[in-house]
Amino acid sequence: MITSLAYLGVGSPNKDEWPRMATGMWGAMVADPGPDGAVRIKIDDAPWRIQIHPADQDETRYIGWGVDWEEDLDAVDKALADAGITARHGDADLAAARDVNRILFFTDPWGFRHEVTWGRTAQRSTFRPGRAISGFVTGQQGLGHVLLLMPDIEEGHRFFTRLGFRLSDKIIVPGRLNARFYHCNARHHTLALGQCPPGVAGLNHLMIQVGSLDDVGTGYEIAQQMGIPITLTLGRHTNDQQFSFYHSTPSSFHVEYGFGGLEVDEETWVPKVYDRTAVWGHAQHPDGQGRPPGIMHPLAERPARPADTED
Ligand SMILES: [Fe+2]
Repeated sequence: MITSLAYLGVGSPNKDEWPRMATGMWGAMVADPGPDGAVRIKIDDAPWRIQIHPADQDETRYIGWGVDWEEDLDAVDKALADAGITARHGDADLAAARDVNRILFFTDPWGFRHEVTWGRTAQRSTFRPGRAISGFVTGQQGLGHVLLLMPDIEEGHRFFTRLGFRLSDKIIVPGRLNARFYHCNARHHTLALGQCPPGVAGLNHLMIQVGSLDDVGTGYEIAQQMGIPITLTLGRHTNDQQFSFYHSTPSSFHVEYGFGGLEVDEETWVPKVYDRTAVWGHAQHPDGQGRPPGIMHPLAERPARPADTED
């Protein structure tokens, strides 16, 4: 079913602050703007990977996923129906707006809008990095990974594993973190779920991966020179072994800028449990103090559905 993270869309009053950070620090490229003036960030042959729409407040607009085969959209549709959720097929206008051939969309129990797509337009040899980097790791591994915050990750586990996500591992730090990590391609995790207090959910971070350790190191230096707030210092994760740092974006959520993430061999992989997030580093940076955990939104009250009580 779902085999990659294809794109991410947010709304923000600070969209015009994105190009400086994305090109100057990440080494990304700014594509032509969307029809509504959205800033479109491009990191590979896809027309764009991140879209920041004009909005009065920061909001998570949509998370775009990809399937390998057109027919797989039907399987996603059925899996959602089994979970009590009706997906809608997007029309030609929506497909064109996302530069895909086919699209269906739905809202999950935590209020996130997901768009499942097939046939992303490929524009070969069109990416020009904004600074001297070796490039971004995308291809079959997709855009990167997202970490979503929700109060009940057990329910999240039941929901997302229906759509093709397989558990890579858990990180449980008592009193501080309860998180699960899921793969849908060779990337160690494309989706992560982190427990948060009741009543809210949110987008905590997007990870983008570059091709060399030096890309991350130079990015870390440039972030500080440009005054981009670092939230977690350089470090290496226990589970996916990503060498990375985290920084704030102009739109409340964070970005993990990393290198060297582990690749999963589905044939031999066995999930593990870790009791810490980092082998070393990833310390809280003073710049990150007082910042929100992500783009948070209130959870709507909803009646219990049959899927809530399964298993
Ligand atoms: Fe991450």
